[in-house]
Amino acid sequence: MSNKKLSRRDFFKVTGITLAATTVLCGGLGYAATRIPAIDTPDLTFSEEPTMNKKILVTYATRAGSTAEVAAAIGETLNQRGYIVDVKAVKELPVLDGYEAVIIGSAIRMGNWLPEAVEYLKTYQENLKTIPMATFSVHLQNLGDDEESRQNRQAYLATVRDLVKPVDEGYFAGSMDLSKLSFVDRMITKMVKSKEGDSRDWNKINTWATSILA
Ligand SMILES: Cc1cc2nc3c(=O)[nH]c(=O)nc-3n(C[C@H](O)[C@H](O)[C@H](O)COP(=O)(O)O)c2cc1C
Repeated sequence: MSNKKLSRRDFFKVTGITLAATTVLCGGLGYAATRIPAIDTPDLTFSEEPTMNKKILVTYATRAGSTAEVAAAIGETLNQRGYIVDVKAVKELPVLDGYEAVIIGSAIRMGNWLPEAVEYLKTYQENLKTIPMATFSVHLQNLGDDEESRQNRQAYLATVRDLVKPVDEGYFAGSMDLSKLSFVDRMITKMVKSKEGDSRDWNKINTWATSILA
């Protein structure tokens, strides 16, 4: 074994390289753990045979895609009732000009709407006072008809109601597809023992979409 002393310069070199390697490794692991698989966020227009010249915006926030599909189903149903409907992700910040009404939906994560959906409400808070708006939330807990479940799911919208006054609130069972979640989200779902599967009730979603027209 060599007794050669490490020079000051070598010491700083070795320390610097070690620090840089640790930073890159930790950053890389952190990125991998929170990386969300690519999710489709469709931008759709349903304009077949409109019986009136009225447009509705359905805008949504999703992480794993199920809320986007619910938004598309609502858009299709409203179009079948004669409206022209645009379906867009909130992250595109769709402007409200020209719309008769707006329906805003979000997936529920950790008891709340997704942050980008809340940001959207903040951005257009003033405009949303002048146009009828309804909300829908897609979630997997508190789905029962009992009072406790009802109160718990309605609590998901506490922040939302501080910002806007929806004319109606739809709550729909969502879907859990582990292949569409980040590593961290998969761990959370394991901890809360959430089961994989699609619980969306398309009949309920379409009935709600029709009912809000009233
Ligand atoms: C990390 C994580 C947290 C969740 N938190 C809640 C929750 O607090 N309450 C609830 O009812 N559902 C919760 N869910 C279920 C989602 O709301 C449900 O899977 C929904 O369909 C997701 O919508 P998306 O596919 O559009 O992202 C959670 C799901 C995940 C993966």
